Amino acid sequence: MASFEPVVAANPGVIEGLDNYRNLEAAQQPTWPDEAAVAEVRAILAKYPPLVFAGEVDILRDRLAQAAQGKAFLLQGGDCAETFVDATADRIRNRVKTLLQMAVVLTYGASMPVVKMGRMAGQFAKPRSSDTETREELTLPAYRGDAVNGYDFTLASRTPDPTRLLQAYNTSASTLNLIRAFTMGGFADLRSVHEWNKGFIDNPANSKYETMAKDIDRAIKFMAACGANFSELRTTEFYTSHEGLLFDYERPMTRIDSRTGTPYDTSAHFIWVGERTRQLDGAHVDFLSRVRNPLGVKLGPNTSVDDVMALIEKLDPNHEPGRLTFITRMGAEKIREALPKLVSAVRDAGFQPLWITDPMHGNGITTANGYKSRRFDDVMNEVRGFFEVHRDLGTFPGGVHVELTGDDVAECLGGSEHIDEITLESRYESLCDPRLNHSQSLELAFLVAEELAAR
Ligand code: PEP
Ligand code: CO
Repeated sequence: MASFEPVVAANPGVIEGLDNYRNLEAAQQPTWPDEAAVAEVRAILAKYPPLVFAGEVDILRDRLAQAAQGKAFLLQGGDCAETFVDATADRIRNRVKTLLQMAVVLTYGASMPVVKMGRMAGQFAKPRSSDTETREELTLPAYRGDAVNGYDFTLASRTPDPTRLLQAYNTSASTLNLIRAFTMGGFADLRSVHEWNKGFIDNPANSKYETMAKDIDRAIKFMAACGANFSELRTTEFYTSHEGLLFDYERPMTRIDSRTGTPYDTSAHFIWVGERTRQLDGAHVDFLSRVRNPLGVKLGPNTSVDDVMALIEKLDPNHEPGRLTFITRMGAEKIREALPKLVSAVRDAGFQPLWITDPMHGNGITTANGYKSRRFDDVMNEVRGFFEVHRDLGTFPGGVHVELTGDDVAECLGGSEHIDEITLESRYESLCDPRLNHSQSLELAFLVAEELAAR
């Protein structure tokens, strides 16, 4: 089996390139109070084992290449910001179950393989629109995710603490361990398709799921009676992803694969660059251009064709299938206007990145009672717009990227449970962006399955 060598032992040219980001503008980094303490943490992280392996990352690149070619579909979802306290067995299981349920709805509805990927086991750092937050008379550093500081509004909690990077690693490791146990240890067996629905409160989406699960059961029993071999159904591949934001975490987690001498960011299988950090001459794009992981880039409604072309040349100069995913987050009002020119220019240039929709981040609102929310109808509308645009252009709508939880929260408005503004007051838990709850997630999966099947 391939091994990872500490980055210092490798070819100096590779290292110089990897560290070039240090000469560039790095947006959205915390202001650590003590640089020596951060250096110590980086040295510790660099010695910790990799969280994922190069071989897995390479398989994922192949799977995403399939999706880019219209032969598979990517389902990527999880919290906006994972937190240390919520990395419990129950909550992780609920999220994995929700993603497995959504994936089965998509696979069954659209007869297409689904690549499952969590925004999980590493999504602990957040870009913010302001460095500080003011409440009444007090101004403190903004919350930048559990990897950086605490959410409590006190100076002690909001002061960036680099030892949190170690806790982010450890929490990612325990989360990933449980995900691997769930998906490889029998829990993800397709014959458990009913089990995944247990423990969630009853709602219309659940019932629709039950009906479908009965059909799947019947099909499986039929195949079993015919003597089919089920080893394929017993386990499932499940990949991890997060925004590659903090250099003090991503750089020490980057290792040289002994098979190929190339660097892999071993903090997750898939890393994306956010809308706020995708500057072409910035540190993030430069650093990620040098690791072998498949990469995502968020594209907001003001993205120009030139930006997209330059991102392709910088991040995927060899136009390698599966290397690059564009995650568009235009907003329901704008997608039909803003997306076609990007997709058609890329298509006309002969490139085939994977296009997926993030129908969450362009649809934020603040409710009258002060909650950061999203209307489920807007989310669904953006998904429909995404499919329409690709249908018109003859390109493949290759996936969805959603913020979701398996828990019964009330953060997004609407859906079949008709969550209203008042309900947000009782069940709003997110420290960052509002997530779809279990039932809204299933509903979204049914819509996507319909759109995919109707293509
Ligand atoms: C996010 O995915 O939570 C996020 C901050 O997205 P974006 O970069 O698209 O704003
Ligand atoms: Co978010």
